[in-house]
Amino acid sequence: MDFKSKIKTIEWIDSKNVSRMVDQLVIPYEYKLVDVKTSNEMYNAIKTMIVRGAPAIGIAGAHGMALAAIEISKKTKDKNEFLKLLKEKAEFLKSSRPTAVNLMWAVDKQFELAKNSKTQVDETVQLLIDHGIQLENEDIEINKKIGDFGAELVTKKGASILTHCNAGALATVGYGTALGVVRSAFAKDNTIQVFADETRPRQQGAKITTFELVMDKIPVTLITDGMSGYFMNKGMIDMVVVGADRIAANGDTANKIGTYNLAIVANYHKVPFYIAAPLSTIDTSIKSGKQIPIEERDHEEVTHINGKRICAEGVNVINPGFDVTPHELIKGIITEKGVLYPPFDESIKKAFGN
Ligand code: MRU
Repeated sequence: MDFKSKIKTIEWIDSKNVSRMVDQLVIPYEYKLVDVKTSNEMYNAIKTMIVRGAPAIGIAGAHGMALAAIEISKKTKDKNEFLKLLKEKAEFLKSSRPTAVNLMWAVDKQFELAKNSKTQVDETVQLLIDHGIQLENEDIEINKKIGDFGAELVTKKGASILTHCNAGALATVGYGTALGVVRSAFAKDNTIQVFADETRPRQQGAKITTFELVMDKIPVTLITDGMSGYFMNKGMIDMVVVGADRIAANGDTANKIGTYNLAIVANYHKVPFYIAAPLSTIDTSIKSGKQIPIEERDHEEVTHINGKRICAEGVNVINPGFDVTPHELIKGIITEKGVLYPPFDESIKKAFGN
């Protein structure tokens, strides 16, 4: 299977008015598509992580709003009543997961579109469907730009790139952010290779990143999260590129738990540490990473692996899903508008045209 051309992680199916997505809970054992037919089903798909990864759940939120609009239009044709019910659904969808800001960004964009439209209810529903499809297609274009800007940073022949979690095609609609950089770099130099952190507790690196790269025949070595320092110390890693779930106005970046440790180790070894993310992941409404809400997840993710308990009953557990890497540890943020460099508060403002 040619993974990079086959995959659209999430796609609106017009003929059925459903959002079709790759079920990420069963990869790498199975490749299964799921049709999400209602806004409630979309809430569950995001919450249970059938769909995951910041840009992908943004599109899921946009599709969820289109599904909500279809449902509400069957109950009322009064535009004010429609908007009131749509607003409630928007808040509901946004409450499915707290950290990745792409979800709030896409849901709010859909609601604003409905609110500002001068159209009747049925036409407004169509506007939301069309806009969801537009965001879906734009996501792939944005990732290709991120990939190409990032590939320019990979100057060493046969470079080794370390990544954490999954910021690939499956975390987006296609191509990926951090893995978009890898794909573009590999297209220029097919001797590069990837080191993929396992990414406990949910193992998105082991399960999803290695799946994508093996499918695309890009050399990948799986390591556990604690091994990065060992390989950096041996000079075996040339750069680190990871994705992001929310970036504050000063460049502080929330990403999958363990990213902060990785950034510290990379800085200690003078290995450049980059973030790859679309501008929709930047939350300019918050000044620093201190304001980023961190999802606390089910303790079973820590106490169990693949449904099997790995520790004594009665142990205490804490399970934050994300951590925040301070901007001082980040060499650059690779976006669709180019690579942003410190001071990030200024380069971010400029990227938004302010
Ligand atoms: O909890 P997840 O799997 O939805 O986590 C999000 C991520 O995939 C990562 O943090 C990723 O690096 C950023 S999204 C491209």
